Amino acid sequence: MQTKYKVAIIGATGLVGRTVLKVLEKKNFSHIYYNLFASENSAGKKIRFLNQDFIVRKLDKNSFDSHFDFAIFCAGSFVSETFAPIAVSHGCTVIDNSSVFRLDADVPLVVPEVNPEDIFKNSGIISNPNCSTIQAVLPLKPLNDKYKIKRIVYSTYQAVSGAGRLGIEDLETKASGETLKKFPYPIYNNCLPQIDVFLNNNYTKEEFKMIYETRKILHSPDLPITATCVRVPVLNCHSESINVELEKEFDLYDVKILLENSPGIIVCDDPEKLVYPLASKANGNDEVFVGRIRKDFSISNGLNLWVVADNLRKGAATNAVQILEKLIEL
Ligand SMILES: NC(=O)c1ccc[n+]([C@@H]2O[C@H](COP(=O)([O-])OP(=O)(O)OC[C@H]3O[C@@H](n4cnc5c(N)ncnc54)[C@H](OP(=O)(O)O)[C@@H]3O)[C@@H](O)[C@H]2O)c1
Repeated sequence: MQTKYKVAIIGATGLVGRTVLKVLEKKNFSHIYYNLFASENSAGKKIRFLNQDFIVRKLDKNSFDSHFDFAIFCAGSFVSETFAPIAVSHGCTVIDNSSVFRLDADVPLVVPEVNPEDIFKNSGIISNPNCSTIQAVLPLKPLNDKYKIKRIVYSTYQAVSGAGRLGIEDLETKASGETLKKFPYPIYNNCLPQIDVFLNNNYTKEEFKMIYETRKILHSPDLPITATCVRVPVLNCHSESINVELEKEFDLYDVKILLENSPGIIVCDDPEKLVYPLASKANGNDEVFVGRIRKDFSISNGLNLWVVADNLRKGAATNAVQILEKLIEL
């Protein structure tokens, strides 16, 4: 008989939480019972999921008293920091979308196409990486395996949905006179070179996350990386320019074939026909789209890529559900 599992979705009413539900609906696991949690503001609300009305429950310290096998946390850092340890103490394995545990030594940071073996080194919590990091490491992993990466320069163009519901409301606000809920300046008609807070070294926390999370996922703790992360007035899907310096010489055609044959990637690259990845085309998809694949002639063995993915799907929900699937397979 097939084992039945009980899974809690924390933050089920938010952008990531609702996308998790969509991805789970597509998977249609027959052997999972779900419970949906959010803040007290949503307690009692109904969410249509798997052709049923699910009642959202308020998350509190007793929510894990009845046993859950797995919980996907999508409710921000404070909620993860407070409630994930409680869940783990009750025997639940947590897949966490927040950044709080990502760099902890005993917490694996996993992209299933890249470092699936790390999932099983967990002590109860597995972190989902930052959305902009997830889409970057998919093409970087095969390049690192074949040509060994020497240095990475990231420049990101990140959608407002990456900042949650309030980010979308700020873009919809449009007129600069209205009160902004998320960003320090109007995002409408602007590019903001600030994502998350500034650190003492003048980098933002988002840039720091991309640098340290890439190193952890690729198991390259000293890899030289720099990043500039920019919020742009796009509703959904992050775009990234990735400049990579490789140790070994490469042939451009071989790189394209390598990326085409790598899991989770769709190569979308035909300059003559004006074909390259676009946020509007990546929207709603689970794959990472890679194009503008070309040599950087300013250095030896330099490569430029343009990488686009749906930050709510592969950047958050899809990746979390893939981790859940791997845990269940075990
Ligand atoms: N957006 C992205 O592209 C993205 C990508 C990767 C990772 N993440 C991470 O995923 C998490 C969720 O992001 P989001 O964009 O989905 O945010 P969001 O749209 O603002 O949703 C936040 C969710 O958290 C719930 N929540 C807030 N306080 C709570 C509490 N005290 N107890 C229980 N639930 C509570 C909210 O419930 P109510 O509806 O009741 O307020 C809502 O369901 C964050 O950690 C974020 O950093 C986001």
